[in-house]
Amino acid sequence: MDKSLKVALSLLGASVAGLAVAAVQDPGEVKLPEYKEGAYVHDAPTLTDIKTDPDLHPELRQVILKGRDMFMNTQKYRGEYVFNDMSCKSCHMGEGRMPWAAPVWPAATTLPDFRGKNKHVNSLEERIAGCFAYSMNGKPPEYGSDDMLALVAYHTYMAKGAKVYDKNIAARGFNHLGKQMPEDISYDAGQQVYTDNCAVCHGDNGEGKRVDGEVVFPALWGDNSYNWGAGITRIFTAASFIQNNMPLGQPGRLSDKEAWDVAYFINAHERPQDPRYTGDIEETRKKHNNFYQWSLYGQEINGKVLGDHNNTGEKPFLKPDNLKPRTFD
Ligand code: HEC
Ligand code: HEC
Repeated sequence: MDKSLKVALSLLGASVAGLAVAAVQDPGEVKLPEYKEGAYVHDAPTLTDIKTDPDLHPELRQVILKGRDMFMNTQKYRGEYVFNDMSCKSCHMGEGRMPWAAPVWPAATTLPDFRGKNKHVNSLEERIAGCFAYSMNGKPPEYGSDDMLALVAYHTYMAKGAKVYDKNIAARGFNHLGKQMPEDISYDAGQQVYTDNCAVCHGDNGEGKRVDGEVVFPALWGDNSYNWGAGITRIFTAASFIQNNMPLGQPGRLSDKEAWDVAYFINAHERPQDPRYTGDIEETRKKHNNFYQWSLYGQEINGKVLGDHNNTGEKPFLKPDNLKPRTFD
């Protein structure tokens, strides 16, 4: 069993009142959205497939397995590629294969493509680099390096048998609730949802949890969490992710409203600076308004303007150098 699940179960066993009750009321019921009409379903290969596929050259198999290990245990590269608590699987759950948890193989079948976030045509390497720079508050492996190649090999193998450039993909990404926040979205209601359903694992202050120095529950805000440039800082992305994947092991348990409220609450907290920061919050926000319009970056919450600081967390720099030429202006 996964270590985090074991710890989760022992915590639940310790009977943290609300959560344990809720878990009993809803024993394992999984409520996930329907696939869109005509959506294309792909069943990505499993670890067993990687280990047994007779078509793989032994050396390629090794490289794919290395990429998978980097994806699952990205914390091994803390201080090199990663400067927060995340591993790729922290958000791309189920080894990056799981529907509604942003399965990663579609990137291998739909890139190169134009990407609105950086306004140019991106390769698969560059897409992976994006999650390093923002979600992992880190520094991507060099383009063309062995480590980058291993990650690309894992992503591409996961797409084995999938159609190329077919974009009507079932359960892609996180976004099924739509982009627009409900008008009555509420910080206070979100705080309550958080206390009742999330704090048991992610901590009273969103700090997550470590056991024997190893991250078992990643941080939701603060220095060890994703930075202000991460896709999940958009309230709609967080709300959809949360509703379909959290609390851990109980997808679909929160109502739409609860998911929106708690996403708002989490993303109304401070986190490391966006690598795109120009030194001026207003200017940065304006420059990338197509992104920030969906987050609380630059807005005043509880008397403080979010993101108005130079804090980059554990990461000793703002922008990863190898991304500058193509991704940052
Ligand atoms: C904090 C959460 C988070 C972490 C950690 C994270 N990602 Fe992502 N990733 C996202 C979000 C959000 C998206 C965009 C999903 C959407 O469009 O709804 C995304 C999208 C992607 C995509 C594109 C998927 C598609 O449908 O085209 C790839 C590939 C990807 N991530 C790879 C990675 C890799 C590799 C890592 C580890 C280095 C990683 N991600 C870590 C949140 C995360
Ligand atoms: C039983 C423990 C547990 C509970 C309860 C739980 N989570 Fe998580 N959460 C996890 C784990 C573990 C991961 C990382 C997934 C992985 O590594 O497989 C995670 C990942 C996340 C992430 C993405 C990574 C990050 O740190 O930003 C978010 C956002 C999140 N949880 C939000 C929530 C919210 C909101 C709730 C309450 C509605 C919640 N979680 C309840 C265990 C839990």
